[in-house]
Amino acid sequence: MSARGRFAPGQVLFGGDWSPEQWDPATWDEDLELMRRARVNTVTLGVFSWSSLEPTEGAFVTDWLDEILERLAAAGIGFFLATPTASPPPWFTRAYPDALPVRADGTRLTHGSRDTYAISAPAYREAARRITRRLAERYGRHPGLRGWHLHNEYGTLDHGPHAERAFQVWLAQRYGTIEALNQAWTTAFWSQGYASFAEITPPRATQYLPNPAQAIDFRRFSSDEMLAAMIEQREELRAAGSTAPVTTNFMLPTWNHLEQWSWAEQEDVVSLDHYLDTVGPDAEAHVAYGADLARSWSGGPWVLMEQNATGIRLDGRTLGKGASRMLRHCLGYIARGSQSSLFFQWRQSAGGSEQWHGALVPHAGGESRVFESVMRLGEVLERLAPVTALPADGPLIAAEVAILWHADGWWALETPDLPSSHLSYSAEVRATHRSFHRAGIPVDFVAPLADLSAHRLLVVPAQYPLSDAQVAWLEEYVHGGGELLVTYLSGLSDEHLRVAIGGYPGRLRDLLGVRGEELLPLPAGRRVQLSDGSVVEEWTELLTATDAEVLATYTHDGLAGLPAITRARRGAGHATYVSAGWTQESRDAHLAALAAELGIAPTLPGAAEAGLEAVRRRGDGVEHLFLLHHGAAPVTVRGNGQDLLSGASARDGLRLEPGGAVVLSLAPETPIHLLED
Ligand code: GAL
Repeated sequence: MSARGRFAPGQVLFGGDWSPEQWDPATWDEDLELMRRARVNTVTLGVFSWSSLEPTEGAFVTDWLDEILERLAAAGIGFFLATPTASPPPWFTRAYPDALPVRADGTRLTHGSRDTYAISAPAYREAARRITRRLAERYGRHPGLRGWHLHNEYGTLDHGPHAERAFQVWLAQRYGTIEALNQAWTTAFWSQGYASFAEITPPRATQYLPNPAQAIDFRRFSSDEMLAAMIEQREELRAAGSTAPVTTNFMLPTWNHLEQWSWAEQEDVVSLDHYLDTVGPDAEAHVAYGADLARSWSGGPWVLMEQNATGIRLDGRTLGKGASRMLRHCLGYIARGSQSSLFFQWRQSAGGSEQWHGALVPHAGGESRVFESVMRLGEVLERLAPVTALPADGPLIAAEVAILWHADGWWALETPDLPSSHLSYSAEVRATHRSFHRAGIPVDFVAPLADLSAHRLLVVPAQYPLSDAQVAWLEEYVHGGGELLVTYLSGLSDEHLRVAIGGYPGRLRDLLGVRGEELLPLPAGRRVQLSDGSVVEEWTELLTATDAEVLATYTHDGLAGLPAITRARRGAGHATYVSAGWTQESRDAHLAALAAELGIAPTLPGAAEAGLEAVRRRGDGVEHLFLLHHGAAPVTVRGNGQDLLSGASARDGLRLEPGGAVVLSLAPETPIHLLED
């Protein structure tokens, strides 16, 4: 476990974003009383408070925050303090209009919302450092400070003149010479050859398609540039003597502007804002996905910084979650390493842009069904304190399956004019993760070049660009005995999105033992069957097996009889290639069968089929088996464990009703069984 994976607050942090600057002192009193009743132990302050802290340039007003911190201290409540730099105030915009972000189409944005900053603008960076320094000097050693929440969801892309200069510098460092860049970007195409770095712009509105290599490099640059801004803030805190842990909140699932592995290395703890995008059973799978990603980025425990307390936004409607589900979701995150259940937000705003967003204290106030369930949640979380202790060594969750994750895959599939514009990196990765979740098998995400010694199976979904080093890493894994499964859209290009010619997927042709000649997306809605009975959609390929075994062939049109799924033996391992887009059901069946063949067992055999989610979180000399019952019929488990929530023993059998949850405390590796009802 990495050093950054040691965040252990000794309790589950419970609370949310609190914005006292929106309310009067009478409401503060009521808030603190409600926090006491709900057993809230942590709030996040200051996320968008810049104009309240620095109403005019250089004039700081901190009395209100001093008072809030005094009241919190009296109530025994800790806090994350945010740097408010995601929302520069109007005075800043008026004084430094060049620090407003410019869209690719040339539109310069203005204040009146949030996230309007040009990350490369010197005035913005200086103002951000100044307010950070000020907060660090005043509050950096406060005993209630649990950590610094730097900025909020970094993610504004700027295509303006400041970004242009910084992009040129970044490119010069990356490529060294303009000739190397011209080569990497294939600028001979459409007369784009550059004579110097000074001629290059960020991708902006163009008459027709932009250069894909320029587009992906701009995404990489933007992530690095925002990371540099975050590091500057961290350095200000450290220079002021504050040693509190530093985090910034990543966001899932809608957009992805950060390369999370490199960011995580610069944080003391990873935190995530996770907003569900589905109300069906897939919401539970989505919780698992977000939590597994955050734990993997962190290399250990992490902080759930935000989730919606009451609603799930779907197709323009905010649908209710329900209390039982809310509780199971909170437990699902904690089972997978979260040290918190923090929410956006504590009190639902009366005005402003997000006045209809859910909160722990709804507009109706403390006398409400929502707040009743919040108090119940507080009670439950208090009993889970022992779960937050960390194992002396080894991972929080022992997973033998790994899924490769890298933002390059996401960004590559967002470049225009691919063979299909209906491709989504996150959909492909999520579908892969969902299959293992449905089988009850724990999963880690891994970065390219990660140590894979604990992982018997590595799945590479839709990782379109692969560098030489990444290809060598995959080869070494397989030759050393690893089982690799690669899905279509992986390894088509090098890191500059240049197609590796001679047959698809060019970067992995030798390892996979196949040669593809044509990429053949299927028309919308068309599904075809393979010889092994699996059903595919979206994508097929004209493929031959050079020295791989053919596991399934196509049966339709001109591809009938040709390989669709292959498996090559290499050294002590195997490399499987899936050249078509499995439907979810076919993917589920194949991945579960492959795991079974490799002897990779579900956490609790039989549980997933009954709708029972089972996750074993390792602790300090103890394990905690989280059992979350999303199914429709009662189930009973038995084994030598005790439920932290109810105190009940499972020795003679413990029954879970639909919607129920238990957290069994066990000696390491104690078996627990699911009884037939
Ligand atoms: C988050 C953001 C919060 C709030 C929330 C609403 O992405 O950090 O400030 O806007 O979304 O869902």
